[in-house]
Parts: sequence; C-alpha cells; structure tokens
Amino acid sequence: MNPMALPIGDERSRLEASAPLARVLARDLCATKLGHDSCLALHGVWQDLRRLGLAATPHRHARFFTRFLARRGTLGHARRALITGAADSGMLEVLIEAHRSAGLDVEPTVVDLCPTPLLLCAWYGTQVGVPVRTRADDLLAVREPEAFDLVCTHSVLRSFPCAAQAELMARWRELLRPGGSLVTVTRIDGDAGAPASVSAAQADAFAARAVAEAQRVPLLALDPAEIGARARRFAAAGISYPVGTERDLIALVEAAGLAIEHLEVRQIAGALAREESAPGVLQSARYAELVAVRR
Ligand SMILES: C[S@@+](CC[C@H](N)C(=O)[O-])C[C@H]1O[C@@H](n2cnc3c(N)ncnc32)[C@H](O)[C@@H]1O
Repeated sequence: MNPMALPIGDERSRLEASAPLARVLARDLCATKLGHDSCLALHGVWQDLRRLGLAATPHRHARFFTRFLARRGTLGHARRALITGAADSGMLEVLIEAHRSAGLDVEPTVVDLCPTPLLLCAWYGTQVGVPVRTRADDLLAVREPEAFDLVCTHSVLRSFPCAAQAELMARWRELLRPGGSLVTVTRIDGDAGAPASVSAAQADAFAARAVAEAQRVPLLALDPAEIGARARRFAAAGISYPVGTERDLIALVEAAGLAIEHLEVRQIAGALAREESAPGVLQSARYAELVAVRR
C-alpha cells in the first residue's frame, strides 16, 4: 500500500486531480480514430463529463460488479483481472473497490489502443496503492502469455460493428482460463444492425446541457464555453453499434463458447433526454448485466 495514497473512499478528490491530467494526456497522446473523430474527443472530456454528472460510468452498475468481480471460487479468487477498453480509470476503480471491500487482492491489467486511459489507470493505481499493468494493443488481436481469472468491461461491445462483436467475444474467451469469467455490462435496445450516430441537433443539445451544468457546478480551470465545445465534439464523434435483443446477446455469448451464469436486463434511469443524448452519456436505457464462464 502506497503511504501517499488517499483513502479509497476519497474518489471525488481523485477525480478532481486526474481530470486536468486527462486533458493534457489526451491533447498530447490521443491519435487513434474512434467513431467519427480521434479518441481525443472522448478521452479529453470524459472525466469532466463525470464531474458534471453526465457520463454513464460503471459505477451505475456497482451492485452487480461488486457481487461478481471479487468472488472466492473453487480455484481461488479472481486475482488476475483484465480490463479491455477503458474511457478512463472508471472500471478499474470499481474493480479495486470490489476486491477491497471483499478483503481480496487483485492484479489488474488494462488494455486499450490509446495510451491516455492507460496512463490514467496507472496513475489511479499509484493513488490507491495497487500496481496496474497496462498494454497498448488492439482488443481484437491482443494475446497474453498467461490467461486471466476475470475479464471485465463496461459498455465496450457496442464500440464494435456486428461482425467484430463476435470476434471480440471469441478473444475474451481466449484470454480467460477455463472456469474464468467475463463480467460485463452492455446496453441492449433491440435494434440490431444499423449503427447509431448522433445528429447535429443532439450534439448541440448535449453541449448546451454541459454548459448549463458547468455554470451550476463550475469546474476548476475549465470555463463553461470550453466544456461546451468539448462536449459537442464528444457527442458528434460518437457512434455505437447495437447489440440487438437479449436473445441476440445470448446467441453471441454462446457461439463464442462461453456459458451464461448470470444475465439480468434492467432499465436504468438517466438524467438526459433522448434529444440530448450521445453514446456513453447518462440517458435512460436498458442494460444487460452479464456473467459468462469459459467452459
Ligand atoms: C466507449 S469506451 C468504453 C469504455 C467504457 N465505457 C468505460 O466505462 O470505461 C471505448 C474505449 O475502447 C477503446 N477501444 C476502441 N476500440 C478498441 C480496440 N480495437 N482495441 C483496444 N481498445 C479499443 C477506446 O480507445 C476507448 O478508450
């Protein structure tokens, strides 16, 4: 445990400290195409959207993640954990907190194409005294020398087109040891097929909402006009590929050779209306909370 670390409960202060860091890292390092833009559009504003209460983070599913991330099984607990795709340290925060509250250790690895979220995860690890291994790689191609007990992700499946969703599911299976679990959340809305982009009117409305929130809760070192511009760019960049119905999701998981252990579909309420929504923001939607085991 790092003696300089803030107590685990002090998440707000950590977010205040890392949001300006995220902006600088994104400005200097983000260079990957994501949706209709560079990943800068996401990584350069995500933590500020979290501070404004506009981001749909894994914390919304904390009860589910806490229940399934840190379990003692017959083969011991899920110590070797892999996070695949991370907007920032959000999934890592939930993973570490689940293990801490169960009194268990965890050895996290995070994979993303872009170094910005990886560095934010490494920074978060130093703050809470947990070494975090990071790897800049393509999720569809990544190979690891040792299999993981656990793969966890929050809302990543919809970043991939339909055929690539099957590839990703197969890759998750390959990365798990037999008996290891995939623990994930994905939005499902029944309309498989066409990708969902954000209209100019929706991007404008989301930006206006971000400005209004920033006027209500001023963000240190970021004026409301600047947050508005960043929020607009974020929304306009967004593209997501529907997963389909619950039945489509089950078929996708089983075709990859994973056995479903838990699947609950829940409607979760969000503060944003459909007209001001974009992928990843706090809107009302149906989410599947899924645990699947490698046979
Ligand atoms: C929408 S975010 C998902 C993160 C998640 N919702 C969270 O709570 O952290 C998508 C992330 O996946 C990464 N990504 C997208 N395609 C990828 C790929 N093929 N390989 C690795 N990372 C990828 C992006 O860089 C981005 O950080």
